[in-house]
Amino acid sequence: MTVDSEKDIQALKAIGRICAETLRKMMQAIRPGITTGELDEGGRELLESEGACSALEVTYNYPGATCISVSPVIAHGIPDGYVLKDGDLIHIDVSAGLDGYFADTGASFWVSNRKSSASARPSHEIRRLLEATKATLMKALNVARTGRPLNGIGRTVQQQARKRGYNVIYELTGHGIGRGLHEEPGEIWNFYNPRDHRILNDGLVLAIEPFLTTGQGRIIEERDGWSLRTVDNAIAAQFEHTIIVTRNEPIILTI
Ligand code: CO
Ligand code: CO
Repeated sequence: MTVDSEKDIQALKAIGRICAETLRKMMQAIRPGITTGELDEGGRELLESEGACSALEVTYNYPGATCISVSPVIAHGIPDGYVLKDGDLIHIDVSAGLDGYFADTGASFWVSNRKSSASARPSHEIRRLLEATKATLMKALNVARTGRPLNGIGRTVQQQARKRGYNVIYELTGHGIGRGLHEEPGEIWNFYNPRDHRILNDGLVLAIEPFLTTGQGRIIEERDGWSLRTVDNAIAAQFEHTIIVTRNEPIILTI
């Protein structure tokens, strides 16, 4: 959507904050021994306590309130009885709606038992990937400005990924958002597409979500019909924010 009133902006900020808070509290609950289903139940309670609904559930009848993917699954992992263990690389995605407005955010984490000094520290490989993906998102947000080409976002994501020695995941994209979870102007690729001539307009609401991987950047769907895993079982990470495009730095709704 494109915002055209202060009411739009305030409503988007409200649902953006709810998504961000839900993700933050779910992050805090991550520990070895908890199941992804339990984590998701906590997320659902947080959303419902704010009067919000899971966007994936209402839009696609997704079997969970949030997506919790354990590497090498990188998207749409279904929360279930899987018990998290020290050293897992996991990804949580929270998208939700309130009063007809939607926001979407996500982050990747390393599971560790913070109470134990003997706990495994993130391997160098995973820590580097997490830092690179987060930094790539922040660079990509910064080129999303009124009047600039939309494909500059993908160009930046791809450049940042390559510079750090990673591939993007080609099939997974950002998207327009606001009045629905996925809407105009459509997909925002994480690579440079010279044939994409779309220009960013003032007030456009976007979910930007780079996916970086140590592998070849291709995914396949698991037999559950939802989970998307890297074809080569390589590790992957994603960070995502919903923004409003302006002439200067965007308004980040999910921070
Ligand atoms: Co998302
Ligand atoms: Co998204």
